[in-house]
Amino acid sequence: MKVNKNYVNLQESYLFAAIGKKVREYAAANPDKTVIRMGIGDVTRPLAPAVISAMQKAVAEMGVAETFRGYSDDYGYDFLRGTISDYYNKKGAEISAAEVFVSDGAKCDVANILDIFASGSTVLVPNPVYPVYVDTNIMAGNKIIYAPGNEENNFLPMPDENVQADIIYICSPNNPTGAVYSAEQLKKWVDYAIDQNAVILCDSAYEAFVRGDLPTSIFQIEGAKKCAIEFGSLSKTAGFTGTRCAYTIVPAELERDGMNLNKMWSRRQSTKYNWLPYIIQRGAEAAFLPEGFAQGKANIDYYMKNAETISTALSELGIWFSGGKNAPYVWLKCPGGLKSWEFFDILLEKANVVGTPGAGFGSQGEGFFRLSAFASNENTILAMERVKPVIESLR
Ligand code: MLT
Repeated sequence: MKVNKNYVNLQESYLFAAIGKKVREYAAANPDKTVIRMGIGDVTRPLAPAVISAMQKAVAEMGVAETFRGYSDDYGYDFLRGTISDYYNKKGAEISAAEVFVSDGAKCDVANILDIFASGSTVLVPNPVYPVYVDTNIMAGNKIIYAPGNEENNFLPMPDENVQADIIYICSPNNPTGAVYSAEQLKKWVDYAIDQNAVILCDSAYEAFVRGDLPTSIFQIEGAKKCAIEFGSLSKTAGFTGTRCAYTIVPAELERDGMNLNKMWSRRQSTKYNWLPYIIQRGAEAAFLPEGFAQGKANIDYYMKNAETISTALSELGIWFSGGKNAPYVWLKCPGGLKSWEFFDILLEKANVVGTPGAGFGSQGEGFFRLSAFASNENTILAMERVKPVIESLR
């Protein structure tokens, strides 16, 4: 009997599980302390009223024989796939409903997509980045190479012609750094991928936080349909971290090695997945329609107020940071040259504030720290009041 020995190469636990455990232990040992959680990017605002009423209506339909639904249509209901296609078309990215695959999470899709690529592929991953890309490629037995982000390139690594890859990960707005690629920079990645016959896996889970005219989809870039797959999510856009709904866009024309990737993903998903409940898909549709969209945007504006609170406090302290303008994450340099887990422990103990150590996102994250903007406005203000003297004492 043989097991997947690639698991030996993983860290013992998933980053956010390790943080959760540390925080639970601290809270249990210090019941008198109020811990403010700005670690995992989990939303706190309630679902939009338009989403709730769409789901309530769908629940009522499920109780009537004439409107009851069993299995979902393949790849998601047409009403939702069409609404997502409209969302893309409105932002100048031509995507048809047949290119949209509804799912229960971008994290799952980012992992599952590896089923359609050969094991042993060479994958180029930004460093630092969302740890799921690395962990899932380790599990799949792929060869991982890194594109280093740092203060000099504003944590936006660019292609290196001397590096060869089959699969390229892009995350923009970036988790954890909050950095966003410009259209010119994304075009360079698209040209590089076409040149290398590689496929870009573009995670745009935070696109709804982009302000101004920065790109919100790789498909706004010419040529991207020839080389990219994109992952979108309602988790942060519409507060669906618990409700679950995401989507993956696989262009109909995307081919590699004599195979059509849209057909391969269709085959993979219809074999291994049974789509989302009707009730959730109706709620997700409402999140894209004008009333729900406006209500969702109000929640995003609420979180961005927190990003501003954090950014202002760090500016006053003279601490280097990125993000916070087009993303719900602020990425800061640890004070006093501290390592990121050391700073994590100090903040937890002295300020009772939880963040995420940069080292958890890759070696290039060592010495950096991520604060998320998903707490309440009141708690974020309180957290920064507690964090400020701690940082001052460390410099
Ligand atoms: C994060 O904190 O990086 C995210 O919440 C993780 C996720 O979306 O899975």
